[in-house]
Amino acid sequence: MAVERTLILAKPDTVERSLAGEILARFERRGLKLRAARLVTASREVGETHYAEHKEKPFFGELVAFITSGPTLAFVLEGEGAIATCRKTIGATNPADADPGSLRGEFALAMPNNLVHGSDSPESAEREIGIWFPDGLA
Ligand code: RTP
Ligand code: MG
Repeated sequence: MAVERTLILAKPDTVERSLAGEILARFERRGLKLRAARLVTASREVGETHYAEHKEKPFFGELVAFITSGPTLAFVLEGEGAIATCRKTIGATNPADADPGSLRGEFALAMPNNLVHGSDSPESAEREIGIWFPDGLA
């Protein structure tokens, strides 16, 4: 399997609940390498660009309001098969459906406050890393 990079967001609910370190640690313990990290309150433009694929959905406004509501810890992880493995670690989109061992299954209850975002493909990862790390990776 290829070594991949993925963009993970510990969303505003995570930072507000002081769970950012716990979330990052779960990924690191799986063997994923931290390549970049940044604590940032997303602008409306960043929120809308990040969630552009959902522009026509009824929940788009709520989604952008949530992601811009406070600081997000954005980080880039690297490892073999990182994209799919991170998505599995995060769990199903709706915390109500997430396996108990997953991050959403352990720490979240309902949408949109589902704690964590993970890129869903290599193309998404590249696009999203560019949005959250516009100056490149240190
Ligand atoms: P994310 O992008 O945040 O990592 O979540 P995801 O891939 O698991 O899910 P995605 O389909 O990309 O949806 C993005 C976010 O939109 C909210 N959502 N609400 N009301 C609904 O039916 C609905 N569907 C999705 C969730 O907060 C999800 O994280
Ligand atoms: Mg998504």
